[in-house]
Amino acid sequence: MAATCPINFDVDYLRQQVEAEYDRVAREPNGDFHFHRGAAYAHKYLSYAWEDLDQVPVLASDRFAGVGNPHRVGIVYPGETVLDHACGAGMDLLIAARRAGPSGKAIGVDMTAAMRETATQAAAIAGLQATVEIRDGLYEELPVEDASIDVVISNGVINLAPDKTRVFSEIERVLRPGGRVFIADVIVARELTVEARSNPDIWAACIGGALQEQEMIELAGAAGLVNARMTERFDCFRDTSAEHKVSKDLEVQGMNFFAQKRFEIY
Ligand SMILES: C[S@@+](CC[C@H](N)C(=O)[O-])C[C@H]1O[C@@H](n2cnc3c(N)ncnc32)[C@H](O)[C@@H]1O
Repeated sequence: MAATCPINFDVDYLRQQVEAEYDRVAREPNGDFHFHRGAAYAHKYLSYAWEDLDQVPVLASDRFAGVGNPHRVGIVYPGETVLDHACGAGMDLLIAARRAGPSGKAIGVDMTAAMRETATQAAAIAGLQATVEIRDGLYEELPVEDASIDVVISNGVINLAPDKTRVFSEIERVLRPGGRVFIADVIVARELTVEARSNPDIWAACIGGALQEQEMIELAGAAGLVNARMTERFDCFRDTSAEHKVSKDLEVQGMNFFAQKRFEIY
């Protein structure tokens, strides 16, 4: 599978580059980046509803760097436990926490300290500190119990993983039987060139490690997830410098994607 093949820069170096990029997003959200950020972008390009965005502290929404809209993939019901496996500044997590309500729980994991601090502060500003918990960790090795999660949310992050098989297997491990996955990620119409895959800037901008739709479906299936399907596409890179760095016929887009853990049959 293309994007899980070894790339010609080392994984630790890649992780440092990714962490440095998103540390900068946390510290300077209005800086110069290859990708869009913020609530206005989320509404205009990704169809987030203002009713949801208005309830998220700007501290979190200014630093939103997703590529699709997991909240259009499915519904989080009151009382459910939601995990955002790389939550960034926490915008999706806080929207999910409101849907889960006071009897639910929303857990955010992220490897970048400045993002975790922002998400923690944003949860407090939103008055959601009782049900939101931010944990330090990697989505390749989630600090989350087996079979404890009803919905895994993911936005713009699977493409960043060199070992996507492991990320999906962790999603499957933490989900309860019947649990759902609401993913937004980047897809490409054809395989990227080795040159594009080997550029850490393009990788950290969420394009270098992007898959094709069918590869994503196969990865979910290989992890044991069922009903995997793409549900929507978004022009998340329109008018960004990333769009100009890759060839047009790659058709780089954001997509929404659903999958589910099997129910156990006794
Ligand atoms: C494109 S941003 C998306 C953040 C958030 N989902 C959003 O929509 O704003 C990527 C985030 O993934 C986090 N990240 C990247 N690789 C990770 C890993 N291996 N484990 C945990 N977090 C990771 C980064 O720290 C960053 O906050």
